[in-house]
Amino acid sequence: MLILDGNKLSTIIRKEISDKVRTFCKTDIRPPHLAAVLIGENPASQAYVRNKIKACEEVGFASTLIKKPESTTEEEVIKIINKLNLDKEIDGFIVQLPLPRHIDEMKVNLAINPEKDVDGFHPNNFGRMALGIPAFHPATPSGIMMLLDRYKINTDGKNCVVLGRSNIVGTPISILMSKKTTPGNATVTIAHSRTSNLKEICANADIIIAALGIPNFVKSDMVKNNAVIIDVGINKIDDHDSSKKYRLVGDVDFENVKHKVSAITPVPGGVGPMTITALLDNTWKAYSKTIK
Ligand code: GUN
Repeated sequence: MLILDGNKLSTIIRKEISDKVRTFCKTDIRPPHLAAVLIGENPASQAYVRNKIKACEEVGFASTLIKKPESTTEEEVIKIINKLNLDKEIDGFIVQLPLPRHIDEMKVNLAINPEKDVDGFHPNNFGRMALGIPAFHPATPSGIMMLLDRYKINTDGKNCVVLGRSNIVGTPISILMSKKTTPGNATVTIAHSRTSNLKEICANADIIIAALGIPNFVKSDMVKNNAVIIDVGINKIDDHDSSKKYRLVGDVDFENVKHKVSAITPVPGGVGPMTITALLDNTWKAYSKTIK
C-alpha cells in the first residue's frame, strides 16, 4: 500500500515554484502577489487562510490578507473585489468560502475578474475548464490531479466514483477526471446524498474520491481490493486523549481501509497541502500569464 504523501509532494512542487520566483524576480521585478479576503470568524476558514498566506511567504510570493467582520455587507465585499480587480500589484485573489449567510456566493464569484480568479470559481474559468481550454482550475481538484500525476497513478479507463457534488470539489474533479487527459480518461460516477446502492457503486470503483464532509464515511466493505482512495474530507472529531481535545479525520475510515487498497491519501497530510500548492501554482500562472 502506497501513501500518497501530500506534504512531501507539496515540498517538492513548492521548491519548484520558489526556484522560478528566484530566477525570474531579479532585483527590480516584483514577485507574484496573492490577496485573500476573509469575512467573519469561522475558525476553519481562519486556519485555511493563515496556511495560504504562510505558503506564499515560503515560496517568496507577496501576500495581502483583507479581514472583515461577519457583519460586512455584500456591497462592501463587492467593493473590495472591484478594488482588487483594478490593483496592478495584485496578480490573483481569493474570497474564502463559506461566506456569511447574508452574502450571495455566486454574486461574489461573478464580480471577480476571471484573469485574477486563482480559485477558478468564476463561470468563465469553470466553463473553460469543462470545455478543456486554458483556465484556472479550482485548487482542490487541481491538487488532486497533481497528486495522481506525480505519483503516476493510472486512471485511464478506470471506474472513478466521486462522493459529493459541491462546486468546489465534487463537480470540478468529476469533470477533470472524465477529460481526455492524463491523469483523466476515467469513467466517472458522481454519487451524492440521494444515490441509491451507494455501497455497491463504491465497491465497484477503481478510484474513490471522497468529498462529502462526513467523518469516516467510507468503510472497508465499500472498497474494492487494490482501489486508489483520495480523501478530501477534513473533519474535526472529539478526542479526549489529545491535548487539543480533538483530532482531524477524513471522509474515509483510514485505519480499516488502508490494508485493502493500493494507494491512499492520509488526513491530515494528503489533499490539504496539495490544495494550497495548487493555489500557489495558479497564482504563479496569473503572474507569469502562462495559464494552460
Ligand atoms: N473553502 C473551502 N475550500 C476553498 C477553496 O478552495 N477556496 C476558497 N476560496 N474557499 C474555500
